[in-house]
Amino acid sequence: MPSLAQRYAPFLRVGAAVERSTLVTHADLLLTQVNSLVCENAMKWALIHPVPGEGEASYRFADADAIVDFAAEHGMRMRGHTLVWHQQVPEWVFRASGGGMASKAEVLGRMQRHIQALLSRYRGMVSCWDVVNEALSDGPQTWRADSGWYRTAGSDDDGDGIPDYIVRAFQYAREADPSARLFYNDYGIEAGAKRERAYALAKTLKERGLIDGVGIQGHWSIHAPDEGVVRSAIERFSSLGLAVEITELDLSVFGWGDISSFDTLPPALERVQASRYGALFRVFRELAEAGKLQAVTFWGIADDQTWLDNFPVKGRKDWPLLFDVMHRPKPAFWSVARW
Ligand code: G3I
Repeated sequence: MPSLAQRYAPFLRVGAAVERSTLVTHADLLLTQVNSLVCENAMKWALIHPVPGEGEASYRFADADAIVDFAAEHGMRMRGHTLVWHQQVPEWVFRASGGGMASKAEVLGRMQRHIQALLSRYRGMVSCWDVVNEALSDGPQTWRADSGWYRTAGSDDDGDGIPDYIVRAFQYAREADPSARLFYNDYGIEAGAKRERAYALAKTLKERGLIDGVGIQGHWSIHAPDEGVVRSAIERFSSLGLAVEITELDLSVFGWGDISSFDTLPPALERVQASRYGALFRVFRELAEAGKLQAVTFWGIADDQTWLDNFPVKGRKDWPLLFDVMHRPKPAFWSVARW
């Protein structure tokens, strides 16, 4: 079986999201197929910094350390995911020490110390960070409001048009590790109003020297979006002089809003999936050759371990990746590996 990492080395890095446990259960594929890793959960605030305080005792570094060490040992690049997100962040971050809602200053102080702790621990080992994840709204307004960050530190006191917590997160990350490449990462930013909101945000941050890249997550399906849409989005973000990565790629076999289910993957859908993956990677190769795309990271590596088994329907099997539940290459693998 060919190695995707090797096949794609002239173009871009190929990565996968992992848990500490999958370094063991999926070592076969990880060691041969990818040259970049990201923690699917281990670096998120709730897991790495679950209890209040700043000393070592407040952090749980063991899982992230194991993943970072594995990447270093095998010469893989490591992405950092993620510093500031509205999910998987403990409630105490937004609560005042004396009770009630924390002040903006308190929240920003906690954010700064958290960012400092992670970026200094992993300096030289994690080369790029998703500093802010999913801050944009899916609805008519610009910014996501169902976020503790937005509620406590989302005012725009400096009048730059961006909630202050976002700019501060990038500033703190820059200060903490000037050599790290800093990313804004989000889903659904390949099209429509959300794409333009992400573009405007990235442009302002770029003008202030605070951002180096945009991560387009890529939680897509075998039905949409088409590769032309993806191409335009990559070109648009790249036109800002930023690195662009596909950071969380998987193609669900179910269309958006479809809650049907199957016991096994229907061969017809497996073929559609192969053709969709093939079309996307043709665009990825072309744009990577033009210097407009730097990496593609899958959100997992094989179909036996995917978050989509619990989203949007808990316990419904999905088959979104290139390797099947037995870790064998699917038709989608061959359409990505052969050209
Ligand atoms: O940590 C608890 C554990 O203590 C408990 O025993 C177990 C039982 O269910 O749950 C564990 O928490 C789970 C957590 O992952 C860590 O494993 C949560 O239930 C589960 O909901 C959570 O899901 C993660 C999700 O982010 C959280 O929203 C997925 O694994 C992860 O793939 C997903 O990743 C996100 C990206 O970070 C950002 N972009 C979207 C993407 C998909 O939602």
